[in-house]
Amino acid sequence: MRIEELLALYASHAAVDSQEMLARALSLPADIRDGSERYSTLVDELPLPRDPESVIVAGMGGSFIGGLFLQDALYEESSKMIIPLRETGLPGSVNERHLLVAVSYSGNTEETLRVVLEARRRRIPTVAVTSGGLLAKLATEWKIPLVEVPSGLKPRAAFPYMCTALPAVVEAAGLVDGLMLKLKEAAGFLENVKQEVLDAGNSLARWLFEQYEAGNFPVVYSYRPFLSAGYRLKTQINENAKLHAFFSEIPEANHNEIMGWEGPFRFSAVIVRAPGEPPYVYHRMEFLRELLRGRGVKHVEVHAIGENQLQKLLSLFYAFDIASILLALLRGTDPAPTATIDSLKKYLEERIDISREI
Ligand code: F6R
Repeated sequence: MRIEELLALYASHAAVDSQEMLARALSLPADIRDGSERYSTLVDELPLPRDPESVIVAGMGGSFIGGLFLQDALYEESSKMIIPLRETGLPGSVNERHLLVAVSYSGNTEETLRVVLEARRRRIPTVAVTSGGLLAKLATEWKIPLVEVPSGLKPRAAFPYMCTALPAVVEAAGLVDGLMLKLKEAAGFLENVKQEVLDAGNSLARWLFEQYEAGNFPVVYSYRPFLSAGYRLKTQINENAKLHAFFSEIPEANHNEIMGWEGPFRFSAVIVRAPGEPPYVYHRMEFLRELLRGRGVKHVEVHAIGENQLQKLLSLFYAFDIASILLALLRGTDPAPTATIDSLKKYLEERIDISREI
C-alpha cells in the first residue's frame, strides 16, 4: 500500500493524532539523515577522553531506548562495552576511567539526574544528551559536554536524533569508526524500502488490533542483537496505543518463561526474526514458533530487512513505530499523550525536589 493510500485508509482515525505522531514515525529516514548531518561534526569536536573502559548510557523510557539500540547496533563491532542503564544510581565499579552518557529528552528526569550527580561526586567523565531542562543547565554550569536534541517532540519520537547523537558520542570516544557514514547509508536504505516497511507495519497493526479485540495481549520475543527493536515494540504499544504488551528475550525465556504456555493464557506473541540468523538462533526461534503453534497461541513473525546490522535493526524500529501508532489510531486513541506517566512525574515532583540536592 502506498503512503498516500495508507494515510487515506487511516484518514477517518487520523483526527485523534493530535501531534502528528504518524507523520513523525514515517519520516524516520529523513530524520536519521538530518540527525547524522547534525551530529557528524561532534566526532571531532566533543572533548571526550579516548578509549574509556566502558560507556554507560543512562536514561529512562524514551531516553533509555537509544542506549539499548546503540548496544545492539555495535554489539559485535565496538571495542568496549556499551552498557545501557535505567537506574537511579551508578554501579560501584564505574570509575573515572569509564564514560557516562546521560540521556534525558526533557532534561528533568529524576533517575537520570541522580546518576549525573553521582558521576560528578565520583569524577566520572560525563556527556549530556538532552533538549533542555535541568540537565542542560547543569551541563552548562559544570562544563559537561552537551549534545542538544531538537525540542518540542515526545521523547520517544526523538529516537532518530538519539540514534544519531549517541553513535557520534561513542565515535568521538574512539569505540568505533565510520559509524556516522553508515547511519547516513542506512537512512537511504530505509527510504528505498519504505513501502515494504509500511506494509509490514500496517499488517502488524491490524493483527495486534484483532488480538486486542479478542482480549489477547502481546508478548514480543526477540534476541540479541535485536533486543532493542523487540523492546521498542513493547514500549511503543504501551505508550502510543495505551495497551499492555510484554517483552521476552530468547534464549533466557527458553529456560523459564516458555513453561507459561503449558498453563492458561490471554496472550498472543510477536516473534522478531532477521535474515542470516546463525543456527543457534534459528533453531531456537523455530522451536518457539512450533511450540506456539502446538499450543494454539496466535502468533506472528516480523522479519527485519537489510544487509547489515544497522539496516536490519532500523527496519524493525521503523515498522514497529508505525505499527504501534496505527494500532492506537485503529482503537481511536491519540498516540501522543501519556497521562499516567505525567501524573506519576507530577506526584514525585511534589514530594522530591532534586534541585535541592545539587
Ligand atoms: C516517551 C516518554 C517517556 C520518557 C521518560 C523519561 O515519549 O514520554 O518514556 O522518555 O519518562 O523522560 P525523558 O525522556 O524526558 O528523560
